[in-house]
Amino acid sequence: MAEPKQTELMEKIVSLCKRRGFIFQSSEIYGGINGFWDYGPLGSELKRNVKDAWWRDIVHHREDVVGLDATIIMHPTVWKASGHVDTFSDPMSTCRHCKKLIRADQVWEMLPGQAWVQSLAEVCDVATQSFDSQKLIHWAGRKGKNLAPNLALVRNPEVTLSWLAERSADSAKEPVSATEFYQHLATEQMPVTGLITPCPYCGGELTPPRPFNLMFESWAGPVQSDENKVFLRPETAQAIFAQCKNVMDSSRQRPPFGIGQIGKAFRNEITPRNYTFRSREFEQMELEYFIRPDEATRALFGEVATVPDGGHPGDPQPNWGWQAWHRYWVEERVRFYESIGLSRDTLGFHVQQPDELAHYARATVDILFKFPFSKRDEQGELLGEELEGVAARGDFDLTQHEKFSGKPLTVFEDELRSAWALLSPDTVTEMRDDFIETKTRVAIEKKGMSAADAADSARAEAEVFFERLGKGQYLPHVIEPSAGVDRLVLALIANAYAEETVTDDKGKSETRVVLRFHPRIAPVKVGVFPLLKNKPELVAKAMEVRALLQSHVTVFYDDTGAIGRRYRRQDEAGTPFGVTIDFDTLGEKGDELKDTVTLRDRDSMKQERVKISELLGRILPLMQ
Ligand code: GAP
Repeated sequence: MAEPKQTELMEKIVSLCKRRGFIFQSSEIYGGINGFWDYGPLGSELKRNVKDAWWRDIVHHREDVVGLDATIIMHPTVWKASGHVDTFSDPMSTCRHCKKLIRADQVWEMLPGQAWVQSLAEVCDVATQSFDSQKLIHWAGRKGKNLAPNLALVRNPEVTLSWLAERSADSAKEPVSATEFYQHLATEQMPVTGLITPCPYCGGELTPPRPFNLMFESWAGPVQSDENKVFLRPETAQAIFAQCKNVMDSSRQRPPFGIGQIGKAFRNEITPRNYTFRSREFEQMELEYFIRPDEATRALFGEVATVPDGGHPGDPQPNWGWQAWHRYWVEERVRFYESIGLSRDTLGFHVQQPDELAHYARATVDILFKFPFSKRDEQGELLGEELEGVAARGDFDLTQHEKFSGKPLTVFEDELRSAWALLSPDTVTEMRDDFIETKTRVAIEKKGMSAADAADSARAEAEVFFERLGKGQYLPHVIEPSAGVDRLVLALIANAYAEETVTDDKGKSETRVVLRFHPRIAPVKVGVFPLLKNKPELVAKAMEVRALLQSHVTVFYDDTGAIGRRYRRQDEAGTPFGVTIDFDTLGEKGDELKDTVTLRDRDSMKQERVKISELLGRILPLMQ
C-alpha cells in the first residue's frame, strides 16, 4: 500500500516544482499531454548544471573519453541491427471495459495507489485475507460503484464472492495470496475465464498481454511510405556504436576508451507515471566505454585481472578484464552522485538476475535512488528505483552493426598480433574451449536455441573471433553507464527537499521550505539583496556586487519585500548563498565595515560579514 506520508511528500514536491518554476506539464494550457514535461526557469538551470557536471566528470576530466552529439533520427537499419525493431517492446493489456491501455507487468505495482484499492482496504484486510462478505457487498453497492464500476465484485457481488469463498475453503491449496484475492474480486465467470487481472482504473477485465513496440515512428521526406519510415531514437547509445569507427579514427583513441553523449530519447511508454520518472520524451547521459575482449587482454598481459565486489577498485589497470571495468564504472558513477549531493545511503543497487538481463547484456547493475514513491521492503525501508543502469554489453552492438552495415568495425593492435604469435597452442585451445562453452550456454538460455544449434553457432563465431585475434584485430567490448537526466533531476529535487520549523528573534515560529541542493548543481548560486530598494546608494552598490558575481556564477537579484521573505524565497529555490548590501557596506558606521556584505548560508542560516573583494574566493571553491 502507498505510504500516505510519502504520497503527501511527492504532492508537495510537485506543487513546489510548479510554483517555483522547476517543472511544468507540457502544453498545460491545453490540458497537458501525458508523459511530456517542460522545465521552467529554475528547472532548466538545474538540468543544465546536471548535464554540465556529467560532461565535466565523464568527458573533460578524463583523457580516455571523448564526446559525440549525434542526430535523433538515424538510418532505420540502425534499429533493426540493434534489435529495437524486433524486441523493444513492453507487454500491453487493454481493459475490455474502459478501453485504457495498461503495461501488463506494472498492474500489481499500480494497484496499491488506486482509490478503489485503498477504499477496499478499509473494509477488508487483504494481507490476512480476512473479509466479511456482507461488508464487501455493502462496499460494492456504494463506494465500489463509484470507484471501480467494472469490478466483478461490483457488478455481481454474490457470484463473485461465492468463487472466493469456495477457493478460501479449499484446505488442499495454499492460502489465498493478495494477488489472487484481487483477481477473485475481478472474476465473475470463473469456469469460463479463469482468474482475471483487474484494470487498475475501473476494475474491469484486462486482455492477455501482447507486445507493444515503444519506438515513436515518423517519415523522412514528404512521402509517408514504408521505405521512408524512421524512428525517434529510444536511446542515445546506438549513434555511438554507429560512429565508433569514425570517432576512433579522428580522435586517435584506442580501447580502453569511451565516447560520451547527452541527448533526447523517446519511448512511447504505455503508462507514463511517477511525475517525470517515466516520461515519453526524456534525456539520457550515456557513456559507451570500449575495452579489449578478455582474450586479447590475456594475450597481451598474460592474465585477466578481476577485482573484488564492493568499494572502488582504484585506478584502471592494463590487465583488467570486463568484470573489473564493470565494477570500476559502477563505483565511478556512485562517486559522481556523491559529488553532486546524493550520498551513498540515498542510493541502492540492483544486480540484475540472468532472466532480467536485456538481450545484449552479460551483466547489469542498476543504481537506484530512494524516491518517495519507491517500493518498500518488508521492514518498510525504501528500496529505490532505477536512476542509471551500468551494463556490460560485450561486443553485441558492434557485431550487429558490422553485420547489418557490411563495414568492418574492428580495431587493430600490432602489439596484440605479436603477443598472439607467442601464445602456446594449449593456451589458445583453452581460450577457444571456454569461448565456445560460454557462447553455447548463452545461445541456449537467451536465444532458446537447441544445444546442437547453439554449439554450431558458437563454433562458427569462434572461428571468426580467433582468426581476427591472430591478426591483431578484434571488435571492442562495451561497458555502458547509462543515466537519465530527468530521473536524476527529480532525485536531486526529492533529496534536497526539506521542511523545518524556524523561530525568529521575536520568538515567532514558521515552517521553512528549503531545497538543500549541492552548490555545484543549484540553479542559482547567489541571491543579491539591497537592504532597501529606495536608497540609490544601496542599489548602486548591490548592482556592483551583482555584476562582480554574475561573470562567474548565476545570480538572482531581489529587492522586493522584507529581507526575511527574500531569504525564504531563495531557500525554496535552493540558492546556497545570500548576499545583503546594507548601510554598513556603504561605510555609514565607519571604515571598518565599508565594502563588506552579509553572506548568508542557506543551510545553517548563519550570517557573517565578508569583504566584497573576498566573496568570489569564498563561493567559487564550493562550485567545483
Ligand atoms: N542504452 C541503454 C539504455 O537505454 P535503459 O535502462 O533503458 O538503458 C537508461 O535506460 C536510463 O534512461 C534509465 O536508467 C533511466 O534513467 C532513463 N530512462 C529510461 N527510460 C526512461 C523514461 N521513460 N523516462 C525517463 N527516463 C528514462
